[in-house]
Formats: sequence, structure tokens, C-alpha cells
Amino acid sequence: MTTFKTSFSRHAAIKAAMAFGVGLGLMSPATAADPVKVGLMLPYSGTYAALGEAITNGFNLAVEESGGKLGGRDIATVKLDDESDPGKAVQNANKMIKGENVDLLVGTVHSGVAMGMVRAVKDSGTLMIIPNAGAGPATGQLCSENVFRTSFTNWQPAYPMGDVAYDKGYRNVVTMTWKYGAGEEAVAGFKEGFTKRGGKIVQEIYVPFPNVEFQANLTEIASLKPDAVFVFFAGGGAVKFVKDYAAAGLKDSVPLLGSGFLTDGTLQAQGADAEGILTTLHYADGLDDPKDKAFRAAYKAKFGKEADIYAVQGYDTAQLFRAGLDAVGGDLTRKDDLIKAMEGATIDSPRGDFTISAAHNPVQDIYLREVRDGQNVVVGIAAKALNDPATGCKMAGN
Ligand code: BEZ
Repeated sequence: MTTFKTSFSRHAAIKAAMAFGVGLGLMSPATAADPVKVGLMLPYSGTYAALGEAITNGFNLAVEESGGKLGGRDIATVKLDDESDPGKAVQNANKMIKGENVDLLVGTVHSGVAMGMVRAVKDSGTLMIIPNAGAGPATGQLCSENVFRTSFTNWQPAYPMGDVAYDKGYRNVVTMTWKYGAGEEAVAGFKEGFTKRGGKIVQEIYVPFPNVEFQANLTEIASLKPDAVFVFFAGGGAVKFVKDYAAAGLKDSVPLLGSGFLTDGTLQAQGADAEGILTTLHYADGLDDPKDKAFRAAYKAKFGKEADIYAVQGYDTAQLFRAGLDAVGGDLTRKDDLIKAMEGATIDSPRGDFTISAAHNPVQDIYLREVRDGQNVVVGIAAKALNDPATGCKMAGN
């Protein structure tokens, strides 16, 4: 049996008083009339600002396509810029949970910030959907009934690239990333896939997040002369890395591989410097899928830009919540049933259908993509229906 603790705040007190009034027949039911409150805790500044904006746009698009309602209830959103700062994560999450008394907390992009949020909702019992951050422990050791993810674990897109690299004939690879959870987990995933086949990691290079001074490291890579380089970078940092890699003269001599964040939402800024880069991700451009075509056309018409993986994840966050809310007719007091419906949902995503694992993570296909003419073109399926191992998750069903 799932139980939800509720945080007791001014808003909660008002809601409780209204519920008491309803019980006495003095008021109409507050739950049905009030909007469902969704807190969007995302980066709206810094290297991940574009990612936060795309997630917000995708979320809003799905709500708008449902007539502004999910489960028959109006949706009200409140936004908070988390600045991709893990040091402020718990405090910011509590502003949403206790200050705003949100019914659903959506966030975030940065793995370190997401871990703070997960800790906060573990205490409050607030329903949370992660629309990007790949932090493994969020659906691993710290998994819980009230935390879902519509994105990926950092392991998921990186692990299949190990096989791809080995099959390409690469045997000695250098890895490079920002030194924080997402980068470390992506490199570990790649390393697991690559070394199990017999590949060797000749050097692991780490730079502090969100540092974009790569020159010294690129000089080191040139001197190491590996068969290929695997990286995790995203957002503004990914743009800078790809441009610097080409400017250092490495583009044509040492193939660059990555989790697909390296080239998603970034290709316009990276231009010719990104051509030919191979990445693995749960999305790609030009998928032969009516759902994706309709989504991309609607997104472009509304926001005047191309959709990317972050927009898809934001869209699917609203879709997953809608699956839960529809099942309970918008009645948030039926939380066990709402969670059960979310657990059992098959999401009709622009990326292709996905289901939710026992640990509340997407089970999804990972595409192998190559940048051709400014598009992440599908060149294969790197892994079919890939489920994260969710090591350490102790939840019913695991
Ligand atoms: C992360 O911190 O988990 C992350 C950030 C950007 C893209 C992908 C993952």
C-alpha cells in the first residue's frame, strides 16, 4: 500500500480547512474546482538554460493539446530557476513543496540538483517526475513510490555506445566529461559496455562543471592518439566542446563519440563542426513516426524552433501525469491509484512508445545517430527496450 505524507504548510492548512468545510456541507469540493499545481524547478539560466526552456515548452504543449486540463482539472504552473546549483537544491525544492504546496514537482536537468530534490520529496511524499536528469541513484538506491522519470538514466544512452565503438574497430579510447554525477555515470556506462568486449580506456579526463576551457585537455588527447574519444557534454558546454574539438584539428583524425546530448538541441550552433559525430540516444531527428511528425510541427508552430530531446521529455512528463490523473478523474486524494496508473502506462511518445520499469524509469529503444547535414539521422538501433539495472532499488516489484 502506498502512502503519501503531506507537507503541512499555510496552503495545506487552507486546503485542510476547506476539506473540513466540504465535509460539513458548507462548501463545494475544493479538489475538483482548484487547478492542480505543478512546480517546474528547472535551469532557466546558465549552460543548461535552453534545456530548461525546452522542457517547459514541451510540458506546456502537451497540456495545451489536452485543452489546458489533465484528468479534467485545470493545470497551474509555477516556475523556479534552479541555476543547476546542487548547493541550493534542497532549499529550492522545499520552496516548491512547502512554500508553494505543489501537487507535482517537475525537475530537473542537472543530476546533482535532482538528487537534492529526490531527498526533499522522500521526506514530504510529494509526487515528482524527473524530465531529464539521469542520476542513477534517483531510480536506484533512492528510488521511491512517488518518484518517476520520463527521461533516461545516464547509463542508458552511454552503455550501448561501448558496443558501437568496439564494432567500429576502436580498441583504445579516451573519455572526457564534466566532473559530476552525470558525466561520471555516463563514462562508467560507456566503459562497462566497451571493456566487457575487450576495449581499453587509456585515459579518463575530467573538468569541473560547468567549465568550458578545454584547450589543455585537447592538446593532451592529441598527444595520446587514441582510436576515438567518448564524451558527455550537454547544452552550451556541448556546443563549445564540439567547436573546440574541430578547431584543435582533432575532428578528422580522432573520431568523437558521445551520449546524444552532445549534438541534441545544439546542431544549429555547432554547424559543420558536428558533421559525422556518432552518438547514442533515445531520440533522433526525422523519425518515421506520425506522433513525432505531429509533435515537431506543433512545437515549431508554437515556439518557432525545432523540438529536441528535452522538449520531448517535457511533453512526456505531462503525458505521464495525464495517465495518472485520467485514471482517478483528477482526484489527487486517490494517490495509490494515480501511481498505479502511472506505473502501468505506455507513453505514446514522439521518441516511440515507452513503458515504465518497476523502478519508475523509462524502458526504451536507444538509437545510434550520425550528424548528417545538420540532423541527428538514425543509422541503427543501438539497444532495443533498454531497462536500467536500477541497482539498489528496494521498492515493491523490484
Ligand atoms: C544530467 O545532469 O543528468 C544531465 C544534464 C544534461 C543532459 C543530460 C543529463
